[in-house]
Amino acid sequence: MTDPQDAIDAAADARAEERDPRIAEQTAGEIQDGIPFIGAGPGDPGLLTVTGKELVETADLVVHAGSLVNSELLDAYCDDAEQVNSVGKDLEELVPLMRDAYEDGRDVVRLHSGDPAIYGAAVEQMDALEHEDVPTYIVPGVTSAFAASATLRTQLTLNGVANHVAFTRPQGKTLDSENDHISDFVEKGDVTVCIYLGTHAVAETMDRLVEDGADPDTPVAVVYHASWPDEDVIEGTVDTIGDRLDDAGYRASAMVVIGPAARKAGYERSYLYGDWANGSDTDSASEADD
Ligand SMILES: C[S@@+](CC[C@H](N)C(=O)[O-])C[C@H]1O[C@@H](n2cnc3c(N)ncnc32)[C@H](O)[C@@H]1O
Repeated sequence: MTDPQDAIDAAADARAEERDPRIAEQTAGEIQDGIPFIGAGPGDPGLLTVTGKELVETADLVVHAGSLVNSELLDAYCDDAEQVNSVGKDLEELVPLMRDAYEDGRDVVRLHSGDPAIYGAAVEQMDALEHEDVPTYIVPGVTSAFAASATLRTQLTLNGVANHVAFTRPQGKTLDSENDHISDFVEKGDVTVCIYLGTHAVAETMDRLVEDGADPDTPVAVVYHASWPDEDVIEGTVDTIGDRLDDAGYRASAMVVIGPAARKAGYERSYLYGDWANGSDTDSASEADD
């Protein structure tokens, strides 16, 4: 019989032949050849990763996501680099800009807010650059849902209350109503729902939730500009949050968190601090390590 580890390695090698060899050769977080697509984090310059900071500090050209990236971060880490705001520029403009600078031997970085993998539209830029023989890679960042969770001093998963997390967005110009799943997630009862790109539409979203049968008392917190100096929190329920947010006047740049975890309510002690710690439940111990 083949050693299972040899079989696993052989399968991994076979997969590696069919896919991008960099997946097998390099690890996330490693500085690689090409243009890094860096997650700038939610705003506070301290929430940029160590690798991201190193790359930004040594960059000649920084293409950034405009007002979603805190200018304090740009001032602190790359004041002497050329800075280009990508807002309002299309791929036909951005790709040659980054490609030409890279081919001229300049250090180019692309700075996205939060983590580039969440509503970042990074992959199409990366594909277009790769097509032009410019290698690219991602340096992860702290997504704004995690900053909002820290602001609220809660966890997005909470034992006995929230077993799942949904990162989602409401219907609108980009998303058809049939692909808006917010009501489905809330209906599950144990999902913490984090809504990106939905600050302007909170009242409508809550109305739809009620129409779809959600409990109007379900907790909701809206965290505006999490980790920025003007960070603010509006708390309420599905029933009340729309009016409260209207009063506060925020129309963009906020994270909407729906579910009991937003209020840290009713959670149970985790197995991590349960009986297994005394050696009585080893299966739970290995899960709890995660
Ligand atoms: C285009 S998406 C980019 C998300 C980003 N890639 C991330 O991982 O956070 C922009 C949305 O992210 C959310 N967002 C970004 N920064 C935020 C912050 N500091 N506080 C709260 N929400 C934020 C808002 O919902 C905003 O509409």
